Amino acid sequence: MYLQRPTLGWNSWNTFGNKINSKLIRETADLMVSSGLREAGYTYLVIDDCWSLRQRDKRGNLVPDPELFPEGMKALGDYIHDKGLQFGMYSCVGTQTCAGYPGSFGHEFQDAATFASWGVDYLKYDYCYKPMMVDGCILYRRMGLALKNCGRDIVFDACSWGYDDTRYWIRTTGANQWRSTLDLVDSWESLKNMILKQNDQTAFGGMGCFNDMDMLIVGMYGSGNVGITGCTDEEYRLHYSLWALMGSPLMIGCDLREMNDTTREILTNPEVIAIDQDAQSQPFRIPNGYFPEEQPVWVKQLDNGDYAMVYANLHDDGVNICACWWDLGLPPGCGYGFAVRDVWKHEDLGVYENTFCVGVPAHSCRMFRLALTKL
Ligand code: GLA
Repeated sequence: MYLQRPTLGWNSWNTFGNKINSKLIRETADLMVSSGLREAGYTYLVIDDCWSLRQRDKRGNLVPDPELFPEGMKALGDYIHDKGLQFGMYSCVGTQTCAGYPGSFGHEFQDAATFASWGVDYLKYDYCYKPMMVDGCILYRRMGLALKNCGRDIVFDACSWGYDDTRYWIRTTGANQWRSTLDLVDSWESLKNMILKQNDQTAFGGMGCFNDMDMLIVGMYGSGNVGITGCTDEEYRLHYSLWALMGSPLMIGCDLREMNDTTREILTNPEVIAIDQDAQSQPFRIPNGYFPEEQPVWVKQLDNGDYAMVYANLHDDGVNICACWWDLGLPPGCGYGFAVRDVWKHEDLGVYENTFCVGVPAHSCRMFRLALTKL
């Protein structure tokens, strides 16, 4: 399967960890529809780790925990499909998953067949308990081969956290997206750290195999499995803006039953989602003053010739951030400028000839779409 756009959906891990069950997944499917998330493009509903029994059955098959998932995964998958959603599941290259459930090592073809028989559309494939004697790229190739030949189109989500130079070999495995970092947790420190880690990853995303910057913490406010201190709404908006600019898969991690209006507004902004889904071109950073690390300006060319741009402020104080059109390929005096649109405020800000400067408060961002305009 050649995936054209980064996946959008919801994943159970960030909030629920091992506290998952059929009822929760059904309720989440219902909410993805009733809250407008499906309409906004979030179609994958992914059950992460902790769904199976601790042992395979006598034939070596994975067995869903009958207490948590009494109707089995096929019936649950049917429910998800009936809602117009797609069904995602989780396994691991190793002998065990990260939480200690059976991994797919040595069972790759059998497990791919099992997932296909349950109607699975997406497999997240983790990197814990990897046997030392086999290279990671071989293990991803095994599952990639198994999935490609299982008789069903299944998105292959490789979750090896960027380890072992993942970015250089992941496209040889059939993976559709690859995790470039360890886990993002719900705190400003973690978020800032993850953003800085993207500086040398920009060449390795885009169509073919999207750079997965990890699941979203938007709307968690410190609760749930990876909830630490929580973040402010402005920090969540900065997080979402950069994930979209970078063309990352956008997997919601908050509890949809508790979702407030601000969270919904962040997650369903059509102008920002369109920028995420427009992921053919390589994102880049442009020079912007004395602290480029702490106040990065990220840019991505869009398919219709526009640019998307994020002015991010990672400082603990407000700063003034400027971008110079020169760095976007627009020399002074060429007869063109850029019309600047604020995609969070849904506001056109006018046409600028050479530069565009704005004040950006601490831990927040501004996000724009630029359209080339004759002066
Ligand atoms: C790893 C992954 C997480 C999650 C957990 C589950 O840490 O990176 O995204 O899947 O395993 O145990």
